[in-house]
Amino acid sequence: MAQILAVGVATLDIINEVVSCPEEDSEVRAQSQRVQRGGNATNTLVVLSQLGNSCAWGGVLVDGPDADVVLEDLSRYRIAYEHCLRLPRGRLPTSCIMLSRATGSRTIVHFRDLPEYDAGHFSRIPLQTLDWVHFEGRNVAETRLMMQRVREQAPGARVSLEVEKPRQRIEQLFSLADLLLFSAPYAASRRLAPAELLARTRELAPCADLVCSLGERGAIGLSRHGFETAADACPPVQVLDTLGAGDTFNAGVIDSLLRGAGLQESLQFACALAGGKCGQTGLHRLTIPALDGDKA
Ligand code: FRU
Repeated sequence: MAQILAVGVATLDIINEVVSCPEEDSEVRAQSQRVQRGGNATNTLVVLSQLGNSCAWGGVLVDGPDADVVLEDLSRYRIAYEHCLRLPRGRLPTSCIMLSRATGSRTIVHFRDLPEYDAGHFSRIPLQTLDWVHFEGRNVAETRLMMQRVREQAPGARVSLEVEKPRQRIEQLFSLADLLLFSAPYAASRRLAPAELLARTRELAPCADLVCSLGERGAIGLSRHGFETAADACPPVQVLDTLGAGDTFNAGVIDSLLRGAGLQESLQFACALAGGKCGQTGLHRLTIPALDGDKA
């Protein structure tokens, strides 16, 4: 059982299921509403836990009923949270989400007004037994210090970085990761085709596996050995809920690499896992695809 720590955000997700995504300045009735824990890092951990890993989270919580939603869900998946920073006041980052029944698309309005998890708190986490540390690409200066600490104190642990959104100077983090997980919107924000993004990133991260997820177009990769690879998406019969599909994909790549698979096989596994997720509501009881395929 691999030991995995993820550093990033937990949110309160208020999910309104709507018949289809409403037009601006209209009023529609939601078909259902639920409130649940969200956030990329904790979503990824929930999936990694279902894949049989021992997981822990580093992030910020605000004491109160919203935190209870997060903590109950983390406990359900046996995700350790003793290293999170608990603030007495403030608001948990909150997302108002419209989930379209017509397409399964999710439209997110995110509000955040909370200090970020920092290297000071991270320095209290013992790292020696960890096999993998995953970071959300945010708060670049502090994340850099945290990644450096992993490199120095846990040289055996592998490090991944999710690069989902453009952030100033985020490229400074690339050389500290073994695996960079880019999103298609990030590539678009750089005005680069995904393959070009990976090729250009190679100089900044010569020893990392590079991946870009492309949603319904699957994923592409550039392995640390220089092999280009790609995997097709595995769409479900009906797309019900794409919320957290990218976080699921990231968990699939990490888990598969941890089990010794090559990048090609890992992308196939992650696409199948994320595709299955899109065919169900939420992240609970995901179908785990069988592992097969070529090694890159
Ligand atoms: C899905 C998600 C949601 C959260 C939002 C934060 O990837 O993590 O759970 O509200 O993104 O950006």
